Amino acid sequence: MQYNRILLKLSGEALMGDRQYGIDPKRLAEYAKEIKGIVAKGIEVAIVIGGGNIFRGVAGAANGMDRVQGDHMGMLATCINGLALQSALEDQNVDTRLQTALEIKEVAEPYIKRKAIRHLEKGRVVIFGAGTGNPYFTTDTAAVLRAIEIDADAILKGTRVDGIYDVDPEKNKDAIKFEKITFKDVIKKGLKVMDMTAFTLSEENNLPIIVFDMNTNGNLMKLVSGEKIGTIVDS
Ligand code: GTP
Repeated sequence: MQYNRILLKLSGEALMGDRQYGIDPKRLAEYAKEIKGIVAKGIEVAIVIGGGNIFRGVAGAANGMDRVQGDHMGMLATCINGLALQSALEDQNVDTRLQTALEIKEVAEPYIKRKAIRHLEKGRVVIFGAGTGNPYFTTDTAAVLRAIEIDADAILKGTRVDGIYDVDPEKNKDAIKFEKITFKDVIKKGLKVMDMTAFTLSEENNLPIIVFDMNTNGNLMKLVSGEKIGTIVDS
């Protein structure tokens, strides 16, 4: 296997499947199956999931809502997705712990780095909810932060696009995909991989980012097995 411990970043929107809002149980079950597959191979898996399928703080702010209030709602949305993913994994007999950056003790464990690592060592999937627990930070930043804290080998950013292209592949059919690119070249070429806070944190800590298509069954397994899937960003 290419990695021992990974942090998988999933977008909230991806959970919608073909819906306009919320969670598609079929998509959720597919994700759980993919994750179960790599856990069975002995890979330690931590997950950060976004909340955009339910609420986005930035979108709330654009409609006149206080940004901090909106971001708090977004953080709770990630907890809802975390609970859903926990259920889906447990349905497939994968031991899972949900830890949240905001304390909602009756619902989930509070985030404790040492406990998270212990869970991973025991083969449990650890889902981190509520982002970083702070407004103005994205779940990408939460993913990079947690990945560094738990000493993950890489952050695997599951998207609906199969990597990083020179121009938007959904708008331009001649777009060229990078197999590998450096942090510096991403900045020089003005490519959007993650927001700058997340991206810089990753670069400063030499944490490789792999962007790949999570919606194609089998991709996650191929990636952790060392196949060239998606685009890898490293130094
Ligand atoms: P080990 O003792 O290391 O094997 O871990 P463990 O998670 O099995 O033990 P623990 O006694 O910490 O947790 C048992 C169960 O309670 C697990 O399902 C945890 O997710 C859950 N749990 C632990 N702490 C909290 C908490 O603060 N709030 C909630 N809601 N659940 C918790």
